[in-house]
Amino acid sequence: MTRALLICLVSCLAATNQAIRIKRCDLAKMLHQEEVEGLEGYTLSDWLCLAYVESNFNLTKVNENTDGSFDYGIFQINSHYWCNDYRSHTENICQVDCQGLARAPGWEK
Ligand SMILES: *[C@@H]1O[C@H](CO)[C@@H](O)[C@H](O)[C@H]1NC(C)=O
Repeated sequence: MTRALLICLVSCLAATNQAIRIKRCDLAKMLHQEEVEGLEGYTLSDWLCLAYVESNFNLTKVNENTDGSFDYGIFQINSHYWCNDYRSHTENICQVDCQGLARAPGWEK
């Protein structure tokens, strides 16, 4: 997970904080604006496919894993490695709060 993509994720979510699920075309526009095309060698279609498979475009999806970690948001970012959710062991490589990756109205810790 690159810093650029995390910035994109946060801005994507900020722009759509009233929606639980984002429309595929709206996500495509945002990812295009954030110049995600080609990031890490993946096409825009790859990123859309990832979001569909991981969360079905559900911005607030949170999933608990068998190791006690959690996956957050549209790309199901894992708390064990990438973000800090303050409730499971994390390396927090991206130095971000998991909450910001799965934010929606009514979100609580
Ligand atoms: C999105 O995910 C959240 C948390 O996992 C779940 O409670 C909610 O029902 C889901 N919303 C939709 C529209 O699937």
